[in-house]
Amino acid sequence: MSNEQAIKVEGLCKHFGKDDSYVDVIKGASFTINKGELVALVAPSGAGKTTLLMMIGCVEEPSAGKIWLGKEKVYDNKWLTQETRKIRREKIGFIFQAHYLIPFLNIIDNLTLLPQANGTEDKVSKAKARELLTYFDIAEKEKAMPSQLSGGQNQRVAIARALVNNPEIILADEPTAALDMQRSVDVVKMLKKIALEQNVSIIMVTHDDRMLPYCDRIMKIENKAIIIESPEKP
Ligand SMILES: Nc1ncnc2c1ncn2[C@@H]1O[C@H](COP(=O)(O)OP(=O)(O)OP(=O)(O)O)[C@@H](O)[C@H]1O
Ligand SMILES: [Mg+2]
Repeated sequence: MSNEQAIKVEGLCKHFGKDDSYVDVIKGASFTINKGELVALVAPSGAGKTTLLMMIGCVEEPSAGKIWLGKEKVYDNKWLTQETRKIRREKIGFIFQAHYLIPFLNIIDNLTLLPQANGTEDKVSKAKARELLTYFDIAEKEKAMPSQLSGGQNQRVAIARALVNNPEIILADEPTAALDMQRSVDVVKMLKKIALEQNVSIIMVTHDDRMLPYCDRIMKIENKAIIIESPEKP
């Protein structure tokens, strides 16, 4: 873990709706996450965890505040670039609760879909996909369909897919929700390893306190703002 900033957020606010339907979700969140950190994001349902990830991921526009990804300031009361999709593609990998693999493509084609859409040569994207499948111990499954893999294996493929473009940041929204305890621990340990070895910063939403000891820090949403704590080490 380094002291180099990967994500910085200052005075971030998000509300939805207006008049009767107005709802404040995040009100003045400020925090910094360094390169190589695995940070858990913990808060009750409806507190704004997904909303926060989507703002950092340049998917959901904030209502106010500032966001830096790496050294680049991307939001200052407005997007500072027209190309939020490009930033997303280049810097960010998403992992969701359900794996969202494409059911009619085999594993390797699921992994190479995005790089190939981005214009990466077939040979190069396949080599990268195979390297990741080997890393995740599922190399022999490259020709299998998602329906032929277990939940944990599919979630590993989904993590591999989030890594295929070498992102600086991974945003994981309850990646272990569909898994049993042992598989969940495996996935979180794997995320920790990626953070450590590849200097990737990861924010992982979790409702499972048993995953917290594997994380470097715990981020909570309280009173619509963010507080960050250190976890108790196992
Ligand atoms: N597009 C939207 N329009 C209006 N309100 C929204 C919208 N998206 C989210 N909200 C509201 O913002 C609040 C935060 O939602 P969010 O999905 O971020 O919560 P969460 O912490 O991820 O919850 P969960 O743990 O259930 O996934 C909720 O009150 C939700 O109803
Ligand atoms: Mg959510």
